[in-house]
Amino acid sequence: MSDVDARLGYVRAVAPASTANLGPGFDVFGLALDAYTDEVELMLEDNANHHDNDGTSTNANTTSLIIEVHGSSMNTDHIPDTAEHNSAGLALLSMMKEYGIRDRIRVRINKGIPAGYGLGSSAASAVASVKALDAMYGLRLDDLTLLRHAAQGEVASAGTPHYDNVAASLLGGFVIVRQEPLHAIRIEPPDDLLLCVATPKVDVPKGKTGVARSVLPDKVQLKQMVSNVANASMLVAGFLMKDTRLIADAMMRDAIVEPARMHLIPAYASVKRAALDAGALAVTISGAGPSILIVGDARNGDMSDIVRAVNDAYLKEGIDCYVRACKVADGTSIHDNTSN
Ligand code: HSE
Repeated sequence: MSDVDARLGYVRAVAPASTANLGPGFDVFGLALDAYTDEVELMLEDNANHHDNDGTSTNANTTSLIIEVHGSSMNTDHIPDTAEHNSAGLALLSMMKEYGIRDRIRVRINKGIPAGYGLGSSAASAVASVKALDAMYGLRLDDLTLLRHAAQGEVASAGTPHYDNVAASLLGGFVIVRQEPLHAIRIEPPDDLLLCVATPKVDVPKGKTGVARSVLPDKVQLKQMVSNVANASMLVAGFLMKDTRLIADAMMRDAIVEPARMHLIPAYASVKRAALDAGALAVTISGAGPSILIVGDARNGDMSDIVRAVNDAYLKEGIDCYVRACKVADGTSIHDNTSN
């Protein structure tokens, strides 16, 4: 039997996509995006509080979670449905172990976020799952505790837990996260901050985030560190001062990660050039890529010229793409408690 009782038999949570790093804020900055969402439904199975034949209870393991992955977003077919290899499964197992939850739970993941393209797909599924489990058992856990469990899900895709995408997807807005000791802060974006995410339809290697992390330098020069600290600070000031131009200017000045990773990003130089020529204020790699994040200012009009220019730039390189104008999103929400 579980140590805590389920209060609800069904919970549905929706989590937004996110972009991490924002140039100089590697593993520290995240931004929730309303371009795509993942939905997770948790259903308590009829044989909840199940016992083994000899009457002993079953430990929280794969037999306690039945994972289903649905949806037609890019790469959904490649998402594992075993709990130990799935970001939602790992996050839920972490939480179930800590709170003694041994009920049998069906986890239906409805993917809307392209998986493996640098848009926080694994983070969104993990965050929606922990938020839904929290509601199902009435645990009322604080955000940092939910983050700690959700970040375990990132082990499935990145090999190590990292907190930027999960913090953005959980809290919404612009987030600053510190891993040790864990702390996360949400700041509201300026109203005129417009965004666009461009996703090339290319195959992404298994363990792509791990690959993208392996090309980063172990050591950086002091002047690179000073430059990134200065620009990361400017970017935070830009959010606090609601100054989209300051945010964009700082985002373009990453001395460490972009130079090391750009060779992994298809058509990066030409898409960046096309977006800037069409009026974008900043272009950077979205998380570990291959998606690209583009910043615009609503005072200069909408993003349609930029979207068109970016589409054309990919097509010239012979690459199909999704290019989506978007805005900053709110965090994860619990939607309703009825299954129909
Ligand atoms: N900060 C992480 C990275 C995000 O850039 O590796 C991965 O989604």
